[in-house]
Amino acid sequence: MSESTRSPVAKMDPTVAAQALAFGPLIFQAARVLRDSGILELLDEHPAGYDDVEVAKRTSMSVYSARVLLEAGLVAGMLELEDNRYRVTVVGRLIQRDRMTRINMDFVHDVCYQAGFHLEEALREGKPAGLKELGDWSTIYEGLAECSEQVRDSWFSFDHYYSDISFRRALPEVFRHKPRSLLDVGGNTGRWSLQCCKYDPDVRITIMDLPGQLDDARVAIEEAGLADRVTLHAGNLLDPDVPMPTGFDAIWMSQFLDCFSEEQILTILQRSAKALAPGGRLHILETYWNRQPNETARYCVVGTSLYFAAVANGNSKMYHSDRMIELLGRAGFRTVHDVDNLGPGHTLLSCVHDGGE
Ligand SMILES: C[S@@+](CC[C@H](N)C(=O)[O-])C[C@H]1O[C@@H](n2cnc3c(N)ncnc32)[C@H](O)[C@@H]1O
Repeated sequence: MSESTRSPVAKMDPTVAAQALAFGPLIFQAARVLRDSGILELLDEHPAGYDDVEVAKRTSMSVYSARVLLEAGLVAGMLELEDNRYRVTVVGRLIQRDRMTRINMDFVHDVCYQAGFHLEEALREGKPAGLKELGDWSTIYEGLAECSEQVRDSWFSFDHYYSDISFRRALPEVFRHKPRSLLDVGGNTGRWSLQCCKYDPDVRITIMDLPGQLDDARVAIEEAGLADRVTLHAGNLLDPDVPMPTGFDAIWMSQFLDCFSEEQILTILQRSAKALAPGGRLHILETYWNRQPNETARYCVVGTSLYFAAVANGNSKMYHSDRMIELLGRAGFRTVHDVDNLGPGHTLLSCVHDGGE
């Protein structure tokens, strides 16, 4: 996609687009309540539509509440009104049925919404000023294990949705060179590592992550009966003095480097170089905003940068691929394989180490 492509929002009637932004947070909540109250489902299952009184009766809402929501759905393009009957539109159907839209909406509501109020402070200070809405930690990754069930569900659904598809497609490339040992940095709940163990019965994996996430990984690995092939290694890579374990044929980082600033990424890449065995490969799976297959995907990726700024850590983002390739070069890595669209907008960069700064 060309970087000069205009956002689909810019192609809307400009006066509508501006007001959609001005009222965005309220319309967002109305859309979510239309979904969670069952109104969208009701209208989706009854294509002939219902009037406002019937909607109120069938969803146990007051007529006042139903009218407020239905009229909001109307101006937001989720509903249409004809002969006094509300019917669901394609947009409303996407809010109701589309898995990605549902996951994005839950993530924005449960993880980002209240934190978003502190975005300006976060950007001025380079700190995740909105994180205090969820708990008292310096990054969300340190607190994830302690977040409420609802926040955790929405965070993990968002994380897994965007990784799962690309994992399947990345496996043949990562195992093309038959690594006997692989370090999964930021391995989270162990989903990639478990897939690796199934894909290649001889590979041994080490997952490096923060202790809270490794507790979840431990459960998944023991349930899969793979404790003899997967080792857990706790460490906080924000600390530049924390090394990675060494001697690996392959290092895998999926949706990991976007959790760090450019300076931090450089130190992580330098430590990765030391962790690789001679001839080993570093594989980086990321979503770069300039490599997205369409403008909808780019919208989601750039929106996710706002989560990093306001809630996650206050200093990272979804990067332009040129920034990552430059940092790889500074750390002495050369990209030997570069493929886009492995998952919904995922790029796999596979690199070898030739020496560096
Ligand atoms: C966005 S998740 C990606 C998880 C997984 N690799 C995937 O693709 O679905 C980032 C992971 O990096 C880990 N992480 C974040 N900061 C870290 C740090 N400072 N040290 C070690 N791991 C960290 C998080 O705990 C989390 O598991």
